[in-house]
Amino acid sequence: MDKIEISTPGKLMLFGEHAVVYGGPCIVTAVDQRIKVIIEKLNSQTVVLNAPEVNIENLALNFGSNNLDQIPKGGKFVAAALNNFNVQFPLDNGLRISTISDFSSKFGFGSSSAVTVGVIKGLNELMGTKMNNQQIFDMAYKSVLDVQGVGSGFDLAAAIWGGTLYFITGGKQIDPLRVTKLPLVIGYTGIKADTATWVRFVANRKNQFALPINSVFSVIENVVVLAKKALEDGNWNSLGILMDINQGLLESLGVGTVELSNLIYASRLSGAWGAKLSGAGGGDCMIALSDNKQNVEQAIQAKGGTIIHAKTNAEGARIE
Ligand code: PMV
Repeated sequence: MDKIEISTPGKLMLFGEHAVVYGGPCIVTAVDQRIKVIIEKLNSQTVVLNAPEVNIENLALNFGSNNLDQIPKGGKFVAAALNNFNVQFPLDNGLRISTISDFSSKFGFGSSSAVTVGVIKGLNELMGTKMNNQQIFDMAYKSVLDVQGVGSGFDLAAAIWGGTLYFITGGKQIDPLRVTKLPLVIGYTGIKADTATWVRFVANRKNQFALPINSVFSVIENVVVLAKKALEDGNWNSLGILMDINQGLLESLGVGTVELSNLIYASRLSGAWGAKLSGAGGGDCMIALSDNKQNVEQAIQAKGGTIIHAKTNAEGARIE
């Protein structure tokens, strides 16, 4: 085999953000906006990367031992994935790696993680190295930590397994949930937030105010456990209330913004069962639970938000 094409889904965090970084559980769903990674063998000694959505054109990388500090931002995750693959399975072929995305990297749908998984799964298929999903996760998680130093890895699990997952930090537990339907509206604030910056922000708050912040984390854990049951039972009334509680707890961590709140309150006032931010906070997307999607979508748009149409519970990484 000389060429492989893999596609991986983006993700949306439903419950448990930030607390999951400190050992708690979270719930994440894969979305049907996907990234394609195409890997071809070349008769050369370098790897060439093309990733137009992050302005990378014909970037030359080594098989392994790329110095991440010297690589432009858009190429770092691919370089880290190559480094880690090469440590376990030395590469001796030139490669052309190309990525094509259904969605903008600014939505916070986890494009970096989706690409990291795509490269490792693609190399696994192309080189016949037979890693299973957990081994792919471990290699991808190490790669993400090599680049950004922080993170729970929940987005990698969504990219690999797909569906809707109950996930504990570092992949200690990854349980698929039985979710048939999830009436969700997704609103984008128009503001791109940097996850690592907001994870560090919460880490600083925790250093300064350990007792209250740790207490907030433990309440978030309770909320996630209750949300798992409400989600599997399709109990939207309870799930909506739990979204509102989770949002209040995220506000107390300091990661809310006026733009997120405007969209969240507009959703609630137009009849949503509940609404919260999704992800690290500071911008990106909010989610609202409603079976009257049109009303909620209009309310979000009236407050300056953009509706993103994406199906949840999407399929995980697959060979195209
Ligand atoms: O900003 P996002 O969508 O990548 O979500 C970040 C979620 C955090 O819990 C804050 C970080 C993490 O890695 O779990």
